[in-house]
Amino acid sequence: MSVSIDPQRPRDELGTAAAPVAAASAADRGIARQHLIDPEICIRCNTCEATCPIGAVTHDDRNYVVKFDVCNACNACISPCPTGAIDNWRQVLRPKAYSLEEQLGWDQLPRQEELDIGAGTDLPTEVVAATVLAIAGQGGVAPPPWSAQKPRVNLYSLKNPVIAVVTGNYRLTADDAVTDIRHIVLDFGASAMPVLEGQTIGIVPPGVDDRGRPHYVRLYSVASPRDGERPGYNNLSLTVKRVTEDHENRPARGVCSNYLCDLKTGDEVQVVGPYGTSFLMPNHSGAALLMICTGTGSAPMRAMTERRRRRTHLKENGELMLFFGARSPSELPYFGPLTHLPKEFIDNNLAFSRVPGKSKEYVQDLIRARAADVARLLRNDESYIYICGLKGMEQGVDAAFREVCARHEMSWDSVLPRLRETGRYHVETY
Ligand code: FAD
Ligand code: A2P
Repeated sequence: MSVSIDPQRPRDELGTAAAPVAAASAADRGIARQHLIDPEICIRCNTCEATCPIGAVTHDDRNYVVKFDVCNACNACISPCPTGAIDNWRQVLRPKAYSLEEQLGWDQLPRQEELDIGAGTDLPTEVVAATVLAIAGQGGVAPPPWSAQKPRVNLYSLKNPVIAVVTGNYRLTADDAVTDIRHIVLDFGASAMPVLEGQTIGIVPPGVDDRGRPHYVRLYSVASPRDGERPGYNNLSLTVKRVTEDHENRPARGVCSNYLCDLKTGDEVQVVGPYGTSFLMPNHSGAALLMICTGTGSAPMRAMTERRRRRTHLKENGELMLFFGARSPSELPYFGPLTHLPKEFIDNNLAFSRVPGKSKEYVQDLIRARAADVARLLRNDESYIYICGLKGMEQGVDAAFREVCARHEMSWDSVLPRLRETGRYHVETY
């Protein structure tokens, strides 16, 4: 599905909205990681075929190949392979996964194709459009961290949304703050809503626009960990900013954000999704997270930090470093809880831009100020970078990384592509 990237346009101008589909079949579409064997490096020793516990590897006289519909990415074959030919992956649209016939005919692996997010899937058009815009800053579709838990996507479509009940709506910014940012808790009762940290859900605002058409879906990052806002409950939280001005600071009443911010306990909300197959946290022990956000871009960072906090006792957590920008402490969501976290758990760097008597500070200024530690993380193959929030910060953060690299004998031009290719650089800005 190739679309205009203006998510503000009504659904029927952009194309047909999602077709009704059963939850399981919807989840089986979308983008997948396909396991492949590099025919140029493979020495045809048969180790992979002999090791695979589920018979996903086969061969002919020419090549060893992996059955896409059988391989479950258990990785049992990876370390026994003497050449590393086995450790190759491509992001593919499920319906377009490379067949055995194609793989058996290869002399070399195909390049990673630029994926059109919506192609071959039934994601709502406006979700595809908003996602294309949001991930533009990372250079388009990127793979998830290799160890990320497999996400479920598009379980609920516009034709069969799930109904969530509001169980909490709390103001996160101080009473005297200009910005109204809220922590909204949604409970899904008996309906399954499996989400991972970094994924988004879609909210369908009730009513119609000024042309009498249903409002389009808006995306919101999940702010709670996978086991729920309250562990073991079938709920999740969102961090929502009430939009009262447009991007040019003219007065505007955001349809969905005002709807969400005004919800009362017990209200019902129509939810679609979940979405997102790339901005996910690594699942392996020792992975370090470098998180950079402004405003409500803190939602996925809260989810990841909370996931880590709940697992502190396992002693498998890697380093956490956070750069978080807001106008002032009273405008920063989660300021209280964040500043109470122990220093050895998270290295917090809060940038404030509008504190009277203090010079304006942005996240990129603090990245420069912490150049030595940021450079150490950029050098570490176990580091994963997440950037979320204002679109405007992309350029400044990119320039700061470039400067950090230059000051520490690295080239951002080589570091960045490597981070992207290995699923270690994720940007979601709006
Ligand atoms: P609209 O009625 O759509 O727009 C009203 C006016 O405000 C328009 O002129 C519009 O251009 C302008 N406008 C739209 N959005 C903003 C904005 N954020 N700031 C200033 N002006 C704006 N929002 C959150 O609050 N929390 C999240 O966790 C979150 N996660 C997102 C994740 C992704 C991947 C994406 C793409 C967006 C995310 N958003 C998030 C933004 C959210 O989807 C909506 O765009 C936002 O709430 C505005 O919707 P609205 O219906 O209130 O405004
Ligand atoms: P500013 O005071 O200049 O607007 P908001 O409250 O509008 O969501 O913004 C969150 C924080 O992001 C604010 O401190 C804001 O500063 C800051 N910000 C605005 N533009 C940029 C930018 N280009 N790069 C980094 N931070 C920015």
